[in-house]
Amino acid sequence: MLTFRAMTEKDLPRVAVIEKAAGSHPWRTSHFIDSLKSRHCCQVAVMNNTIVGQGVMMLVADEAHLLILSVHGGFQGQGIGKAILRQLTEKAQQCEVRSFFLEVRESNTTARQLYANEGFNEIGRRRGYYPLSGGLSEDAIVMAMEIFP
Ligand SMILES: CC(C)(COP(=O)(O)OP(=O)(O)OC[C@H]1O[C@@H](n2cnc3c(N)ncnc32)[C@H](O)[C@@H]1OP(=O)(O)O)[C@@H](O)C(=O)NCCC(=O)NCCS
Repeated sequence: MLTFRAMTEKDLPRVAVIEKAAGSHPWRTSHFIDSLKSRHCCQVAVMNNTIVGQGVMMLVADEAHLLILSVHGGFQGQGIGKAILRQLTEKAQQCEVRSFFLEVRESNTTARQLYANEGFNEIGRRRGYYPLSGGLSEDAIVMAMEIFP
């Protein structure tokens, strides 16, 4: 069974393992420490007493911003990413935010499909937002969902 709870500092070693095993561009542990200190909404998904994924959402005024969403590579494709996103969306609804925003790499078709399926629309593009090696960069697609318009 999949459950959710707030992330704590004690979870950070396992959270770091998941970041490395998620297969994308990992967040450093310092990012999670900053998010916990800033009291962002930091959630972990737990299966059989093991953390299998995590998500961090920042609430600012009447907006929510998804900062990170990661599922361990060995657990991807089982609905866990969707479940974490729904958990965060529920928390955003409880806080009566109006809009939920996120940025995603243009090449991340899996995440873009997940967000589109969950009701996010593409509202813009930030050119060259993500630096790549060799002086290259990748665009960010900005997506948003109205929660309480
Ligand atoms: C993106 C990520 C969080 C999705 O988590 P997941 O648990 O694998 O995804 P789910 O099993 O919940 O699938 C959710 C949706 O994603 C899409 N999806 C999942 N796997 C996919 C694949 N291999 N190809 C295309 N779309 C896929 C589908 O639309 C799926 O919805 P459906 O099952 O209703 O068809 C996960 O792949 C991950 O951690 N990736 C690396 C980190 C990352 O890119 N994070 C997002 C940064 S913005």
